[in-house]
Amino acid sequence: MNVTFRVFRFSPGVDKEPHFDTYSVPLKESMTVLEGLLYILDNLDPTLSFRFACREGVCGSCAMFINGSYKLACQTQIGELKANKIEVQPLPNFPLVKDLVVDLSAFYEKIEKVLPYLTAKNDVVEKEQLQSPVERKRIDEVIDCILCAACQSACPQGWTGKDFLGPAVLIKSYRFIADSRDRAGDERLKLVSGEDGVWRCHSAFNCVEACPKHINQTAAIGSLKRKAVVRKLLFWKR
Ligand code: FES
Repeated sequence: MNVTFRVFRFSPGVDKEPHFDTYSVPLKESMTVLEGLLYILDNLDPTLSFRFACREGVCGSCAMFINGSYKLACQTQIGELKANKIEVQPLPNFPLVKDLVVDLSAFYEKIEKVLPYLTAKNDVVEKEQLQSPVERKRIDEVIDCILCAACQSACPQGWTGKDFLGPAVLIKSYRFIADSRDRAGDERLKLVSGEDGVWRCHSAFNCVEACPKHINQTAAIGSLKRKAVVRKLLFWKR
């Protein structure tokens, strides 16, 4: 049995305009969308471009728009889509590099802005900094973010405000603010409390729906908003 893949294609400088190409792929048991794309690349069309690395839902590089939903191609079995046609498009709202590959440079630059690393409480760390189960629980969910950028792509505030930090970047900040081992919470809150930070989020919940890791970004951003208000009340002169 074969399944039809309808794949978005555009090669700037070569194609006049974007279009879809159709391929017939032999279906194997438990075959994923990524395996289907690899079959196309190996057997039908070596010019097709897409990203992947880990093939196990860890690196985030295979996030795509599959049959109208945000998904990781390596974690999406063709059978579970319950469709005889698989339509694959690049992540919307990012500049296109080629075919299914988008330019994530601006996304990575935003992540850098929010200091995406732990600032340990002691300058010299001589041994592990332990956390209690309760402290660890606070970051259990957000620590699962693999920076696939699906939520970033789905956020309507990002469609109109190019400088909005976006859900993935805000939860990267939250991940360290909520971490009991980190001491840079105040500086972090300052970075996400500006015009393009938490207040631009209108809780549309698109991010929650898009996230392949089932993270509740809107709840984390809500927590950041409350912390930002408290910070403002406590340190209003700053
Ligand atoms: Fe790494 Fe899919 S290839 S998440």
